[in-house]
Amino acid sequence: MKSSLRQGIVAGLLVGCCSGVTGCGGSAKPDPAGAKKGSSSITAKEETSEKNMLTVQREPFGQTANHEEVTLYGLHNQSGMKVNLIDFGAIITSVEVPDRDGKLANVTLSFPDCAGYLENGPYFGGACGRYANRIAGGKFSLDGTEYQLFLNNGPNTLHGGKTGFMKKLWAAEPFEGDKQVGVKFTYVSPDGEENYPGSLKTVITYTLTNDNELRIDYVATTDKPTVLNLTNHAYWNLAGAGSGLIVDHELTLNCSKFLPVDETGIPTGEQAPVEGTCMDFLKPHKIGERIDQPVNGSGGYDHCYVVDGKVGELRPAAKIVEPKSGRVMEILTTEPGIQFYTGNFLEGNAKTGNAPKHGAFCLETQHFPDSPNRPEFPTTRLNPGETYTQTTVHKFSVAK
Ligand code: GLA
Repeated sequence: MKSSLRQGIVAGLLVGCCSGVTGCGGSAKPDPAGAKKGSSSITAKEETSEKNMLTVQREPFGQTANHEEVTLYGLHNQSGMKVNLIDFGAIITSVEVPDRDGKLANVTLSFPDCAGYLENGPYFGGACGRYANRIAGGKFSLDGTEYQLFLNNGPNTLHGGKTGFMKKLWAAEPFEGDKQVGVKFTYVSPDGEENYPGSLKTVITYTLTNDNELRIDYVATTDKPTVLNLTNHAYWNLAGAGSGLIVDHELTLNCSKFLPVDETGIPTGEQAPVEGTCMDFLKPHKIGERIDQPVNGSGGYDHCYVVDGKVGELRPAAKIVEPKSGRVMEILTTEPGIQFYTGNFLEGNAKTGNAPKHGAFCLETQHFPDSPNRPEFPTTRLNPGETYTQTTVHKFSVAK
């Protein structure tokens, strides 16, 4: 990072400046003039130790196809963690976490530059919406009207369709607190975008705490009845992104049931007990132990699990331990489901961040796939006057 730029940015934050949030989709406008204000404050801050400061730093990351500026926000906490986010797609581009010796490594898959994120790809780190995961036939009905969505995954729609939330520029508002720092991203999806009804305002707030928690809060409102399902699609390899396969990671899922799927990844409607099957992670198992066994798992695991406990309450869903580095990630969520995907479509080439098949895993907290067509699943309908909320926490630590 260029020091002068960083100084300007942190200074901007110190004087309460942020990039322009207009409440309108695709209208994020960083405020470089504002960011220069108060550079004397930052000089003072820079003269003290930079290493252990809670800061948000900002730098240019590239441009969209329409030549809009894309900005990277670097969150630093006082416990040695760093998280980079960009306003294009509200994407997490890196998560640096210490191992048991204090050595930092980026544990999430990423592209080296903006161009990688502009193309359609494997959804690295981004916000999936309006509907994360699949809707059968890309079709659903609401109050007697049928909506046909774009089919981008065989016969189905996946992760928002042709141009989902990951391909939008979000308005960004960084913030600093006493024990946490973060960025609030806002995007207003116009009525009819990707054929979904209603103008949908979505706010996603990423917060990095001094306890090494990366918290993601989602809030959405609509002006017409609609459906939505939001998640983040980060790919994890706790030994370090690009360090090999994730087969030795030990996974625990607090999920007594999962959703069997057909050969196109659509739930059959059954909520099947995991007990005694290759889907059972109630006690820790190495991810690779039974990875060749799941039915319709596209060459590994690619299934939504039903998180035990009360929907809407923040409760433990998953724990992953990487034995060599000692890195541990726990996931807590308010959501009913968690999609466990073992990077089965990663191809070891530049298009997939040079990660090989099973070179990373995803644990996407969300509502169940195809819920708009499954009245027996928790509803994904949102009405005007209601507020959709979701919270997911990724807590990092080390095993001794
Ligand atoms: C999801 C799906 C997978 C795959 C990835 C992206 O998590 O469940 O089948 O499409 O996204 O490659």
